[in-house]
Amino acid sequence: MDLELAGKRAIVTGGSRGIGKVIARALAAEGVDVAISARTEGPLRDAAAELSNATGRKIVPIVANTGKEADVNRLVETAIRELGGVDILVNNAALPGGISPATKLEQIVDEQVLEDINIKVVGYLRTARALAPHLISKGWGRIINIGGLAIHRTGRPVATLRNVGVAAITKNLADELGPKGINVTAVHPGATRTERTTEQAAKELGASVSIGRIVDAQEVAWVVTFLASPKSVSINGDAIPIGGGSPGTIHY
Ligand SMILES: NC(=O)c1ccc[n+]([C@@H]2O[C@H](COP(=O)([O-])OP(=O)(O)OC[C@H]3O[C@@H](n4cnc5c(N)ncnc54)[C@H](OP(=O)(O)O)[C@@H]3O)[C@@H](O)[C@H]2O)c1
Repeated sequence: MDLELAGKRAIVTGGSRGIGKVIARALAAEGVDVAISARTEGPLRDAAAELSNATGRKIVPIVANTGKEADVNRLVETAIRELGGVDILVNNAALPGGISPATKLEQIVDEQVLEDINIKVVGYLRTARALAPHLISKGWGRIINIGGLAIHRTGRPVATLRNVGVAAITKNLADELGPKGINVTAVHPGATRTERTTEQAAKELGASVSIGRIVDAQEVAWVVTFLASPKSVSINGDAIPIGGGSPGTIHY
């Protein structure tokens, strides 16, 4: 299947490592030029050089904290200028599990909750708000929001909350932007193997996955790459769980 991605341009936030970097690589492998962003310059520049060498595509590193409006506006302006336009936005920048480690009410720290929401929910809204007029002017676009399967689980209330926020903004943006040619979707990865995953953690987490192991970042990236393509037009506003299956639960 030709994903019809060759020649398109994308922004992937949080593209210096982990899932975002692998998504950027997968898009570039399909012929997409990509702007990747993160807060820390060194690893971001290294990632851009690595991905460019591996794929032959233009990979532009742009330092930006998605928790700050001015940074996000500069990110989007720079990406449009450097790539000659942007067609695809992958909202990924956030720390896995978030900042708040709270499992009990007494452990909730307001500042941690607000910063988790600021980065993962308001941050995703900021990038979409900054880019939407450009996408609307072209009449086509894709926005893919990376959530997480904590949305379906108790035990880490703030982790659940921020992913519920991702689902909420995804559906709202899909209804607003869908008639203008822009599909907005979310994916909810389960525990995902990245370069930072230890074998011990992979083994423990994999025991509660239907396929018998945790998914790899590459397997997340394949789904995101499809959603970024014109071929995904029939999916809009919905969230796809991509954790290899959760035994014993049925989601409608
Ligand atoms: N890994 C998992 O098992 C898993 C499971 C479910 C969902 N997810 C979701 O998948 C996404 C990526 O996770 P990951 O495991 O790949 O994380 P990761 O390895 O920690 O990478 C996170 C990336 O985001 C950047 N980042 C973090 N906060 C940022 C901010 N405020 N502004 C701009 N960039 C920021 C980081 O660079 P800097 O630190 O330099 O900014 C880095 O490039 C997250 O949304 C996470 O919640 C992950």
